[in-house]
Amino acid sequence: MTTNSSGKSVSFWIDSTPTTAYPAFSNGISVDVAIIGAGIVGLTAATQLKKAGKTVAVIESGHVAAGVSGHTTAKVTSLHQLVYADLIEQIGESKARLYGESNQAAIEYIAALVAMEQIDCDFSRQSAYTFAEPDSEIDQIKAEVDAALKLGLPASFVPETSLPFAIAGAVKFDNQAQFHVRKYLLHLAQTIPGDGSHLLEHTRVLKVEEEDPCQVITEQGVVHAHDVIVATNLPILDQGLFFAKTHPKRSYLVGAKIDPDKAPNGMFIGSGKESHSIRTTPYDGGLLLIVGGEGHKVGTVTDTAACYQKLEAYVHDHFEIDAISHRWSTQDMVSFDRLPYIGKLTPFNQHTYVATGFSLWGMSKGTMSGLLLSDLILGKENPYAELYDATRATPFLKPELIKNGMDVAARWVGDRLKNLQSSALTEVPTGEGKVLTINGDKVAAYRDDQGTVHAVSAVCPHLACIVSWNNAETSWDCACHGSRFSCDGKVLHGPSVKDLEPQVVS
Ligand SMILES: Cc1cc2nc3c(=O)[nH]c(=O)nc-3n(C[C@H](O)[C@H](O)[C@H](O)COP(=O)(O)OP(=O)(O)OC[C@H]3O[C@@H](n4cnc5c(N)ncnc54)[C@H](O)[C@@H]3O)c2cc1C
Ligand code: FES
Repeated sequence: MTTNSSGKSVSFWIDSTPTTAYPAFSNGISVDVAIIGAGIVGLTAATQLKKAGKTVAVIESGHVAAGVSGHTTAKVTSLHQLVYADLIEQIGESKARLYGESNQAAIEYIAALVAMEQIDCDFSRQSAYTFAEPDSEIDQIKAEVDAALKLGLPASFVPETSLPFAIAGAVKFDNQAQFHVRKYLLHLAQTIPGDGSHLLEHTRVLKVEEEDPCQVITEQGVVHAHDVIVATNLPILDQGLFFAKTHPKRSYLVGAKIDPDKAPNGMFIGSGKESHSIRTTPYDGGLLLIVGGEGHKVGTVTDTAACYQKLEAYVHDHFEIDAISHRWSTQDMVSFDRLPYIGKLTPFNQHTYVATGFSLWGMSKGTMSGLLLSDLILGKENPYAELYDATRATPFLKPELIKNGMDVAARWVGDRLKNLQSSALTEVPTGEGKVLTINGDKVAAYRDDQGTVHAVSAVCPHLACIVSWNNAETSWDCACHGSRFSCDGKVLHGPSVKDLEPQVVS
């Protein structure tokens, strides 16, 4: 089934900013710090380190700020749906307070930088709300307000908001923020090249050897560095087992022009499991309403076109808009203990650092990561280093989290042992992809609109799970740790650094 969703299939943030054209790898690059990935983590760390006098090389496989950070909702807030009551229960009040403080500090860092460098990025102060629609969720809302107030956060309970539909009540955080994430990140990016520092695009890193100096091995050659930050959303290096301490969640967004008089004022997210995220941004002399939702684990839904259709139906039911103009989707790693992992790759690494597990709140946590990692490299004290230590033991705190881990394992085993069934290429309809078993091999076959079949191995090069078809994005997605590949097998999203192997079939 192909999508008949409306709107351009492109992130509004990317559609409304120029494409970048930084150079690819060239020989002889040797710097203090190599940073793999030009998203919010990599670019924040790079700018901080360069300001502190270090030479840096940001190495990006695609374009700057076009990964998860180019596809986000870009709310900058410490109100992460419902988190504080749970954190107090799980890790205690003083650590929960640090979580709140560190995210508030990240908001203030962005605000100060925007003001100081006059960054034209539609930054505005906004209130953030987590709203409950059914009365049954109101107790959770009130518990979150109490917990947040106990931690010194700017929280209050409100019985109603400017949303154009009835709610049971909401947590409100004052003085939060929103921005145009790509305008902000493109500004950071242009400050990097020069004075011994580099920003490289179209340069995929394959691995890192921690030696003296570290070798960052790309498809085109080696970059040498004293320290390395792996800022690839989920680390491409497997040693820290971050793929097993997180799971990849994909979610969908649509944008539609809205009359400013009918637009909600603030940033919103529902409190339930199937929640929607809502904000507006300046657009075409008026406002664009952005609504996200229909999230699921990567690779577990094939009819992703239906996700867009359900989301569009929600937007039309809840808001007065004309037409959807943009639709896009992306994914983030959800941490099992709700805290991001920021710090050394493993206890045995002295010069390789990571940041991951932002649980869909990486504007503040990604900024905080860039600041924390640069402090670690500069040898500066950071009050949040211990809380987010990437090498900490991760207890499986809740039964549903254990189940999540088991789902991945069960899928891996199931994929490997499933009875092989013979299948024929004729079973693949035009415009669709299907995993077939041909001569005992799992083959991912896609038939394009001209009828030509593109066949690649269905075995994910990361840790050998079997990929599944994503019809809205015509991609092959891996449910185990979130790698994604184009319909002809090119890697779109890590942790895989390799393409799906081409297959010859007839
Ligand atoms: C639907 C959705 C909505 C969200 N909305 C919000 C929100 O409103 N507020 C909020 O705070 N957070 C939000 N988030 C989360 C936030 O967007 C992410 O946590 C954050 O953008 C992650 O940044 P990053 O730097 O880790 O990753 P990225 O931005 O993906 O950067 C990683 C970069 O590494 C590059 N890379 C990968 N592999 C390699 C390699 N081998 N070699 C070289 N480069 C490589 C990639 O191309 C990419 O550019 C949302 C997430 C989702 C999924
Ligand atoms: S992403 Fe890990 S096996 Fe596919």
